Amino acid sequence: MEQAQTKRIVLGITGGIAAYKAAELARLLLKQGIQVQAAMTEAATHFITPATIQALTGQPVLIDQWQDDKGMAHIHSSRAADAIVIAPATADFIAKLAHGLADDLLSTLCLARDCPLLVAPAMNRQMWSNAATRRNVQRLVADGVIVLGPASGAQACGEEGMGRMLEAEQLAQDIAAAFQPKLLAGQKLLITAGPTYEAIDAVRGITNRSSGKMGYAIAQAAVEMGAAVTLISGPTALPKPHDAQSVDVTSAAEMLEAVKQRIPDADMFISVAAVADYRPAQPSEQKIKKDATTLVLELHPNPDILAYVASLPKPPFCVGFAAESENLREHATAKRKKKNIPLLAANLAQQAIGSDDNELVLFDDAGEHLLPRADKLTLARALLRHAAALYKKGSR
Ligand code: CTP
Repeated sequence: MEQAQTKRIVLGITGGIAAYKAAELARLLLKQGIQVQAAMTEAATHFITPATIQALTGQPVLIDQWQDDKGMAHIHSSRAADAIVIAPATADFIAKLAHGLADDLLSTLCLARDCPLLVAPAMNRQMWSNAATRRNVQRLVADGVIVLGPASGAQACGEEGMGRMLEAEQLAQDIAAAFQPKLLAGQKLLITAGPTYEAIDAVRGITNRSSGKMGYAIAQAAVEMGAAVTLISGPTALPKPHDAQSVDVTSAAEMLEAVKQRIPDADMFISVAAVADYRPAQPSEQKIKKDATTLVLELHPNPDILAYVASLPKPPFCVGFAAESENLREHATAKRKKKNIPLLAANLAQQAIGSDDNELVLFDDAGEHLLPRADKLTLARALLRHAAALYKKGSR
């Protein structure tokens, strides 16, 4: 299985109140297996102590170019880095970057880099909307710098508006996204996710406990890897992944229709939806009254969407999911064979449903591969690395 390589980041912290969030960001990056070398401006040390950052990263913090830079830290540290991330980036530091100034260690590091630069602006809303800042940010974007955020909301000064730094969690996710190898560049992916809802009457229906989290995580990971993604989703409460085309459906029949329309264009089909296996034969248009002592529901089987796609004369590369409650290996192997698909990801339903993390076992022609317990986005990335490798090899 293809593995993600360890990445090294220089985390630059400049002097804004959001500097306290940098400690959490450092922790989250380390948790993802990313090595962090912190560098602070002198101003940043007034907001958060280098001791905090050093304790979290296990590395001395670079601050003073006259003390720390005798051995050319600005060259060595930037050469060793896979990316430099400035969080928070003050208006002043953004102005420096835009003009190529290098009057302290961190700005010198940025100028001497040969790796991507990501900045997370954090400032008062008025400073953010100032024409000079707008110009400077546009300059950075034109120079290929990745600008993360800012967000809108309550500010330290008591005002409300644009300029808040993104939360550490979001930044950690965006940074990891920037590192994803573009293994699916140019590929069109169609993904189904979430449950389906089969109406019994005007207000009741049959559905299941699928949250949609795994399918949405796969859509996000696929976008990060450069794919053009269409996500067909049953009812969920999740925010739509950025940069994916979203199609909302309710029932299995609607999901099948949406898939049929788009499948001729797809290179890969990933069927994550927990499609209801049965639907009421005759849903009532009106709410059914509780007059009867017993109520018998007649159910008809729903079409199997994945089996339909896999049996097309020229099917896209198909990835299926299996949620089992027992005998994972036997059921998954049988399901992969029956549906005639090259790759199937299996999990135990009681561990997976609604949960933020999971464990997957992948089944393909070469055997089985365990993706150990992790959050669903990490699993999604690992699954797609595996799928992309098989797809490239030309597995059916
Ligand atoms: N699937 C589908 N359409 C259906 C049922 C399932 O596309 N009507 C897809 C799911 O998205 C998943 C795979 O088939 O990728 C397996 O779904 P699962 O419900 O676990 O298996 P079933 O084939 O329905 O078998 P069973 O319910 O008996 O376990």
